[in-house]
Amino acid sequence: PPRSDKPRLHVLLAGPRGFCAGVDRAIKIVEEALRRYGAPVYVRHEIVHNRFVVQSLERQGAIFVEELDEVPDDAPVVFSAHGVPKSVPAEASRRKLFYLDATCPLVSKVHREAEQHFTRGRHILLIGHAGHPEVVGTMGQLPDGMVTLIEDEEQARTAPVPTDRPLAFITQTTLSVDDTSGIVAALKARFPQIHAPAKEDICYATTNRQAAVKAIAPRAALMVVVGAPNSSNSLRLVEVAERAGCPRALMVQRGRELDPAMAEGLGTIGITAGASAPEVLVEEVLARLRERFELEIEEVVVAEETVTFKLPAALQAAT
Ligand code: F3S
Repeated sequence: PPRSDKPRLHVLLAGPRGFCAGVDRAIKIVEEALRRYGAPVYVRHEIVHNRFVVQSLERQGAIFVEELDEVPDDAPVVFSAHGVPKSVPAEASRRKLFYLDATCPLVSKVHREAEQHFTRGRHILLIGHAGHPEVVGTMGQLPDGMVTLIEDEEQARTAPVPTDRPLAFITQTTLSVDDTSGIVAALKARFPQIHAPAKEDICYATTNRQAAVKAIAPRAALMVVVGAPNSSNSLRLVEVAERAGCPRALMVQRGRELDPAMAEGLGTIGITAGASAPEVLVEEVLARLRERFELEIEEVVVAEETVTFKLPAALQAAT
């Protein structure tokens, strides 16, 4: 190839990055519902936290709403990957709506853990971020007051919890692995008898994306995280990069948000993407950088992922 006179930029691509099996399944559920039932298909909450994904589904005929009362009686409705409080499918059944639940199976697993603890008479401490839809959904599996939210180590040490019942903790699936181990240690120090999940609630995708960022952060002068500001796992990737020694980490939603001049003179940068960000957006960022640099791309893969999830039974049957 002809020699380019552009400066060289070394790009470390985190592997794995981008879509997880739960996001992939949620998007397929909406697409398959549109194919089978025709537009419009309603979706309660952003199916996954990514505007690009939401807008492309809108173009195919999906209508996004925040609450069920915005859904007409005769249209199918999909619940987002983050999970929903029990009251939502209950209300959908009461109205005889046809609904499809795109809750990630790894979130549903945490919902079942919560119910089992409750059945065994345990009070639950949920480690997570207030207001995130996954937390709202998980707390909403049980009656009000049965779950105490713990957001940080300080709350782990001091939050008031009932003393007349055994305790158990569960977590949001998209937390910082390192912060969570600190919070868990504080809970165990305060409540030595507390029941812990048999296997981590933080999902494989969150764990692997954080590990990949840790592997490249010490070598990168800048980390670009493709993701959305309301995406918990994407926000965590920014924090992990900075804590792992990358001098600067920033989030972009689209290629055009990145000013390639920022990478001038840096030598090596890292790029990753949150679990709800499609690979085409990583391609956009690379294309943007190519406007100014000759890229040398090195993919650093810390884990191979083979997880896939089946579609709900209603969408598996032959049409
Ligand atoms: Fe599920 Fe983890 Fe993705 S909980 S939706 S696999 S980030």
